[in-house]
This record gives sequence, C-alpha cells and structure tokens, in this order.
Amino acid sequence: MLVIANWKMNFSLSQAIDFCTKLNNNSHHIPIVAAPTLYLSHLLVRFKNIISFASQDLSANPDDYGSFTGEISAKMLHDIGIKYSIIGHSERRTNNEETNDIVKNKSENAIKNNITPIICIGETLEARNKGSYLESINNQYLESKPKFGKFILAYEPIWAIGTGNIPTTDELNEVFSFIENIIAKDVTLVYGGSVNLGNIGLITAVPQIRGLLLGKASLDVIEFNKIIESL
Ligand code: PGA
Repeated sequence: MLVIANWKMNFSLSQAIDFCTKLNNNSHHIPIVAAPTLYLSHLLVRFKNIISFASQDLSANPDDYGSFTGEISAKMLHDIGIKYSIIGHSERRTNNEETNDIVKNKSENAIKNNITPIICIGETLEARNKGSYLESINNQYLESKPKFGKFILAYEPIWAIGTGNIPTTDELNEVFSFIENIIAKDVTLVYGGSVNLGNIGLITAVPQIRGLLLGKASLDVIEFNKIIESL
C-alpha cells in the first residue's frame, strides 16, 4: 500500500523534521510525504534514504526555467530528488481555479521529469446527490489524464475531504470498480477523504484500493504510524 501524507500548508520546519524522525518506515508499505515545497530540500537532505517525498503541486508551464515569478518547475523538483507530485487536489481546483486542462499539463510536466503524478479527481456533493457522480468522475478523468506515461489516480470525493464523512463500502465498491474496469485500467488507485484509524479497515477492504491519501490524519505522526502498522 502507498500511504501518502498530504500535509497541505501545515507544520513549522522543526515540526516537519520531528514527524520525519518519528515516521515508521520499517514496514513494507510505502510512506510518501507531501510536504510544503519550501521544506522539501531540507527534508530530502536529511531523510531521502528512508522517506519518499512529494510536492503538493508544480508549474503548469512546460519550460524548465524562465520568467515565471513564483513558479516551481517539475525539472527543479526532480533536481532535488522529488519522486511524486500531487496534482489537481480539489483544494487547488477550487481555490486556484485549476481546470482539468491545467491538471493534464502539470501531470505531463511531471512525467517528462520522472516524477509520478498523483492525480486527484472526485465529485461534488451536488453531483453525488443528483446521481451524476460517475459521469462527473469519468469526465474529470478523461480531461485530466496525461497523454503519456504512468500516474497514480486518487479518488477523493469532495464531500469526504476534511468532513469526517466517508463513502459506504457499497459506494466505494461501485466507484472503484467503475474506475478500474471502465475508465482507468492498469492505473494504481488510491482513496482519499477523511481516512483515519477508525475507518481504515472499511476502506482497505475494497480490493481496487492500493493506497491512501491522508490529510488530517497525516498531521499526527502517532496516528500515521498506527495507520501504517494496521495495514
Ligand atoms: P482529509 O484530507 O484526510 O483531511 O480529509 C484528504 C485530502 O485532502 O487529501
């Protein structure tokens, strides 16, 4: 199982170091830490032999270098040792107006630089209630997916992120079977949205789920370690 910690915009540098020092990396599951970009170089120098790191985003611009103030290219992230990048998280899609097209470009930039994109898709509560969620997932997937290369696909229903609500087993089975059998064959599938120690069993019982993307539960290294140990 991949166990991806999405710290979002959290932790001081010393808290980040403390987390990495205490992280259990002795299991056969693979922890990936998506730290704030600013901390990545520092953490890589200290922990790169024992932890894989991800960025939470990268530039949509295909150039490696150039006049793009504030941007960080996939090439730069690769240079410091980044192996993965979360792309198109719903918070970025909502707060930074990231379209599927932007997500596709970012994913292709990552792949060209040997970074595996972790592409996030997931329906709104409205689409879920209207019954149009499979259509919504399908469209998001088809428009966001890179034209080449390997990627990880994270299904994160927006109504489950940070809310404490998770889909039922039937709902998870329906969506993951749909994704694996109909739209994204041969893609590593991950679930994210309010995963915690209490609901982990229900989620990992779904056979297509090969990894977890954790937000809140990734801010407590004790809980995070317990989650890894329980897998
Ligand atoms: P959460 O966040 O675990 O706090 O719901 C998940 C995510 O945003 O990826």
